[in-house]
Amino acid sequence: MAKLLLAATLLCLGLVSVRGLTNEERAALLTGAVGLGNLDIVLDPQNSDYFIVSSHGMPNHTLGPWGRNPNDATHQNHIYRIPKNPTVQAEPSCTPMGPIGLALSGAAIYNPYTGECYDAGMLEAEGFDDCKGHPSPDGTYHYHITPTCIFNISEVPSPIIGVALDGFPIYGPTDETGRTLTSADLDECHGRQVNGQYRYHVTSDFPYFLGCFKGAPVDAQITGEPCECTERADPCQAVNGNEPPQGDAPGQLPFDRDQLAALGIICPTDSPNDVINDHGHGQHGNGSGSKSTVSGAMLVLLTAISINMKL
Ligand SMILES: *[C@@H]1O[C@H](CO)[C@@H](O)[C@H](O)[C@H]1NC(C)=O
Ligand SMILES: *[C@@H]1O[C@H](CO)[C@@H](O)[C@H](O)[C@H]1NC(C)=O
Ligand SMILES: *[C@@H]1O[C@H](CO)[C@@H](O)[C@H](O)[C@H]1NC(C)=O
Repeated sequence: MAKLLLAATLLCLGLVSVRGLTNEERAALLTGAVGLGNLDIVLDPQNSDYFIVSSHGMPNHTLGPWGRNPNDATHQNHIYRIPKNPTVQAEPSCTPMGPIGLALSGAAIYNPYTGECYDAGMLEAEGFDDCKGHPSPDGTYHYHITPTCIFNISEVPSPIIGVALDGFPIYGPTDETGRTLTSADLDECHGRQVNGQYRYHVTSDFPYFLGCFKGAPVDAQITGEPCECTERADPCQAVNGNEPPQGDAPGQLPFDRDQLAALGIICPTDSPNDVINDHGHGQHGNGSGSKSTVSGAMLVLLTAISINMKL
């Protein structure tokens, strides 16, 4: 009785969502809206407050090719214990590198960042296959952006397409009225309440899947990976000779200005530090050229040092 009263009070305060994956949602994840269901979801035999969600990580949609990405997709042992009745936390928590959820296809869902905290949806797009996934160096096939082949994009509303490791479901981008949601329609973690239940949505704009965890923190103890990025680094800072603010490999950018432009990222060319990979733009004329060459050489040196430190 006291427990019921407490739950009712918390519900009124809007603090908790006492409903996790419903039976319908579990069934939909197992089957998949277009027959690509590849997850296993069972009640934890040790503790019925949890589900065990697992997959071998290899969807049976077409995998690859992945452009310049040299990695290969390999079988994984994805096994996560997720709360059956996740609670909405007062403070959201950051998403680690590595899996932050599993898609119904069996693939992992990653946060929106590259290892250097750039927007993976833009900078890694060249290496996404037809279903918008690619493998990491350890062979984990994963999505950063909407996996267009694992659900019917025309369905209204969008079906469930995966589950986050905090226990909340992840849906496609179309709401009950047929509107295509964007991040502006969602909270900071990229979710909203529908019929008293919290859910995330994937959208075509950053951060695509999740901006943070709304449920209990999913930390390194669970995924084995730390949170390395909480905001997007600006790739133009790297081509302009300034280090981006975060990440394990600051300053390393696999693209030059022209390649960024081809990805739709136009960096201003009038910076005095405009030297790195710019094919000569910004170095014309008088003394300012040699000054920027010095800062460019410094950056190359710093980058070399940071690469050495990683080895
Ligand atoms: C995925 O697997 C199912 C069942 O094994 C099969 O019917 C379907 O054709 C497969 N899809 C692809 C794209 O291989
Ligand atoms: C996708 O959804 C639309 C709208 O509900 C439907 O007309 C169409 O048949 C569906 N396509 C598939 C392949 O299920
Ligand atoms: C030379 O440098 C000064 C500032 O250092 C700048 O205002 C001027 O436009 C430069 N001239 C040329 C030709 O680039």
